[in-house]
Amino acid sequence: MFSYRHAFHCGNHADVLKHTALLAVLNYMTEKAVGITVLDSHAGAGLYRLDGQYARTSQESDEGVLRLLQAQQNKEVQFAPVLENYLNLLKTGNPPDAPVLNYPGSPLLVQSQLRPMDRLKAFELHPTDGRLLAGTVRRLGCGRQVEVVRDNGFSCITKFFPPPTRRGLLVCDPSYEMKTDYAQVLDLVAEGLLKFATGTYFVWYPIIARADAHDLPKRLRTMANRAGKNWLDMGLTIKGATPTRQYQAPEFAEKPEDAKRVGGLPGSGVFVINPPYTLKDQMKPALEQMVALLGQDKNAMFKLESN
Ligand SMILES: C[S@@+](CC[C@H](N)C(=O)[O-])C[C@H]1O[C@@H](n2cnc3c(N)ncnc32)[C@H](O)[C@@H]1O
Repeated sequence: MFSYRHAFHCGNHADVLKHTALLAVLNYMTEKAVGITVLDSHAGAGLYRLDGQYARTSQESDEGVLRLLQAQQNKEVQFAPVLENYLNLLKTGNPPDAPVLNYPGSPLLVQSQLRPMDRLKAFELHPTDGRLLAGTVRRLGCGRQVEVVRDNGFSCITKFFPPPTRRGLLVCDPSYEMKTDYAQVLDLVAEGLLKFATGTYFVWYPIIARADAHDLPKRLRTMANRAGKNWLDMGLTIKGATPTRQYQAPEFAEKPEDAKRVGGLPGSGVFVINPPYTLKDQMKPALEQMVALLGQDKNAMFKLESN
């Protein structure tokens, strides 16, 4: 347990998909003049350096956000508004006209969108990443608006449902390092829907050759359908996974030189229950551009399905 460090993966294609969609959801939810509560069950360290030792070991951001930023700088593409919004937000966390090297994880991205009446509770269990996140939040001077809880997001979070304003978002982004994560995600969302049926549920999942990974979005669909909720399932695959070259996260590689060679994640998805009605149309052109710019072989594709 606890081998996973998001610093190896920051700014990869999965972050591009997840953070673009998350920002679009937040933009919608902060349009109404009622406060929202965001619960981030697996927050990570919060702030990463794309030129840091971990990120350079895997070089995943080269084939993710850095490729998009390069295309933006070269004016190769007119980006879809949600993608443009995400790339522009990254620039605000870096000195003007300097390369984007500071990369915000989900809690910082959420924090950047909060209005005075909104709240964020971010859960992170890894001792080092929890300490890093708490330090970053303290330095930002967020006061009581952002609370870092260095505890188990799966078991602690549902006691905060429903939030006082009855408007809220659960961001659930585990590493799936433990096989039990898949079942815990389903339990968390099921309990959430019981206690807070109108909440928005945002779940990231890997697209890998594993039965429980494959089943997770299907089970979330069934759960949402049974609860009579709208859902949106979006996915981005950048390359095919071959059986002989299965995904292995770089931090699990035995030797540092294996870290890049072992492959990297072929794809990932985000499943949203009670999504903004605008999200599907906003994400379609963004996903087309992600495939065009980040796709690595003929297997590159996106999915965008809803009920
Ligand atoms: C994929 S990363 C999160 C990345 C982050 N959401 C982002 O988008 O920037 C998953 C994180 O969950 C943490 N974690 C694993 N199990 C946890 C648990 N039960 N409760 C809270 N955090 C956990 C890991 O230490 C890791 O930092």
